[in-house]
Amino acid sequence: MQSIARNQATVAKIQCLEDAPLNPLNGNAWPSSHNDILQGRRRLPVYGRYQEILDRYHQSPVVILSSETGSGKSTQVPQLLVYDEYESGLQIACTQPRRLAAKELASRVSDEMGVVLGEEVGYKVRNDQKFDRKKTRLTYMTEGVLLRALSSDKSLSAYACVVIDEAHERTTDLDLLLALLKKTVSRRKDFKLVIMSATMDAKLFQDYFNNCPLIHIEGRNFDVEIFYASNIGTSLIPAAAGMVVKIHKDQKPGNILVFLPGEDEIGQVCRLIREHTGDLDVFPLYSSLSASDQRLALSSTGPNRKCIVATNIAETSLTIDNVVYVIDSGLSRQLIYNPRLRLEMLELRPISQASAKQRTGRAGRTRDGVCYRLYSKEAYDRLAPSTEPTIRCASVHSVILRLVTNGYREIVDFDWIDAPHPESIARAAQDLRDWGFLNDDASFTLSGRIAARCPLDPIWWRAIQVGIKLGCTMNIVDIALLCSSQTSIFLNPSAYREIANFGSAFFKDSISDHLTLANAFDAYMLARELYQQENGFKFDLGDWCFDNGLNIGALEEVRKARLSFGNFLNDIDKGPHNIKIPRTRAPAGDATRVRKALAIAFCTQTAIHRTEDVYRTIHENTSALLSPHSSLVEGNYEWVIYDTFRTTGGKQYLQTVTTIDPKWLMELPFFQEDRFTKKVDGSLKQPNVKRSLDDAKAKLETAKN
Ligand code: CDP
Ligand code: MG
Repeated sequence: MQSIARNQATVAKIQCLEDAPLNPLNGNAWPSSHNDILQGRRRLPVYGRYQEILDRYHQSPVVILSSETGSGKSTQVPQLLVYDEYESGLQIACTQPRRLAAKELASRVSDEMGVVLGEEVGYKVRNDQKFDRKKTRLTYMTEGVLLRALSSDKSLSAYACVVIDEAHERTTDLDLLLALLKKTVSRRKDFKLVIMSATMDAKLFQDYFNNCPLIHIEGRNFDVEIFYASNIGTSLIPAAAGMVVKIHKDQKPGNILVFLPGEDEIGQVCRLIREHTGDLDVFPLYSSLSASDQRLALSSTGPNRKCIVATNIAETSLTIDNVVYVIDSGLSRQLIYNPRLRLEMLELRPISQASAKQRTGRAGRTRDGVCYRLYSKEAYDRLAPSTEPTIRCASVHSVILRLVTNGYREIVDFDWIDAPHPESIARAAQDLRDWGFLNDDASFTLSGRIAARCPLDPIWWRAIQVGIKLGCTMNIVDIALLCSSQTSIFLNPSAYREIANFGSAFFKDSISDHLTLANAFDAYMLARELYQQENGFKFDLGDWCFDNGLNIGALEEVRKARLSFGNFLNDIDKGPHNIKIPRTRAPAGDATRVRKALAIAFCTQTAIHRTEDVYRTIHENTSALLSPHSSLVEGNYEWVIYDTFRTTGGKQYLQTVTTIDPKWLMELPFFQEDRFTKKVDGSLKQPNVKRSLDDAKAKLETAKN
């Protein structure tokens, strides 16, 4: 490239490169769309502020940039920096909270820069990347990927600059990243940090970074008119579907985007809309949908109007073509952590004003739009101004491991933007010591060092360790990967209920949802092998999955995750500590040891039967129903462990559940008398728990004698 000296770029110099007859990045002719794209880009609101952005960037190690959604932050700013930093030979990273956004942005920006995706512009998300070690200068990546890069190189010496996008989303990874990057900035003189955020939280970041420059870009590309609901009281599903049908009948062309809290509501609304319209293409969009279905929702174009019914996955970053109408339910499913109850639950909650604004902004990305809020103006005024940072609503086990990895042991006094609740920190530190990951002085044990590098949540590494002891390592690895997958391996139960029911019945283990998942995955791996032998002529793997109610995309993701987990285990074997992980599997038909390993590892997520499908969690005595999708429904088993606790429609559910035997638990510290909760009068709150454990003990004694 005809070079611009490092950090000497000006708008004129960059324009000169973009207007040159050949693409300066690769020396090729520009694609035929180049001029149109360029003109569009130069109309974006950030364009008028390029010089100011460059000047501030040259003057200060940290710059904050805020603007309305759609003004060109995510796509344009990293491109400017590619030219400005080109000469250094170093890379630029741009982080995103979501994998889909990282991939979509990389694809859009490689088009804009006239290069092939994976060459000069690439992406890296967990288990998937398009990236060229020599060529790639700009990489869109998830926050988790950058955190891992930081764990192995605190100075991030391969990077000239990190652009943190969508900072207002305040994911746990983002809070950690900012805290660690703040240290990188003071460590490296030539390292730069750009933080991009919606307007509301920019000041907070400015304060955290010692009053660094803040550029606010006014105005948006297009106007959006907002309407509030007048007939409050109609329930959400018919209200949302009714609004779509009305827009479709009465309003000018333009696509519709509906925001709902979750998969269940999305399924119902999609069905209702389809029943009442004929010529409207309806697509669901949520994170547990397969990657190909997600792409379909974004990219499909046809003669009909399109309606996308989404969770807040569509709230930021993604551009869906030609969205003119947004319908906002005002709700989302949010993770809430109660450290006292040790409960992490997914709860239906009103969104914040910041979220509502983001949703509204989705209507004005490619032309003027309209946003219908399914709540009143008064309700809007009562919403919290911004969303509570996730670090304050989630358990912090992996946060602590990450900090210790990076050399910090003062977790409470760490320089947080918003510190996690002290009780969350205390609980997590206690667990990590109980699991043998941390010493009393908060330094790593050998297991802790491995747990910190493990790509799964620490509790799953704990489960794998128990699996190693009980001779079922690889069974637990598979279950861990299946439970950690963002996408359900069973087809969306509301859209394909009958097939999915049939499918899961086929794989069903009547006493364990964990084993049901593992059975389905094993069957898939067998079918996949057959498919390869048949060379695809007689047997279609996609059809096989569909017929069995399985989501091929999700299964492939788990398969890839298993390959990369295999590498992680190989690295441990080859590591300096002389550890060999035995790759054992329980003999077919012996699932007991797998259930026992799960029971021991998840002993703090146990519940005891009460009536019908109602269970009560141990010690906290919180009542919850079995998820209707569980194999255990109507089984009346006495003890269970669960993977997730969620609330839907005011009810609490245990999801992914396995029956266990109390005799596996009675030696564990969590089940000793000093941990039992007591009433004010000193009597036990859950006498049945003690009774059941004593019975198990007595039976064991009798068996011994
Ligand atoms: O990050 P911010 O919300 O400020 O905007 P952006 O994602 O950089 O997008 C700026 C503009 O680029 C959008 O308003 C769209 O006009 C256009 N764009 C697009 O047409 N297709 C994409 N995949 C991404 C952006
Ligand atoms: Mg953006």
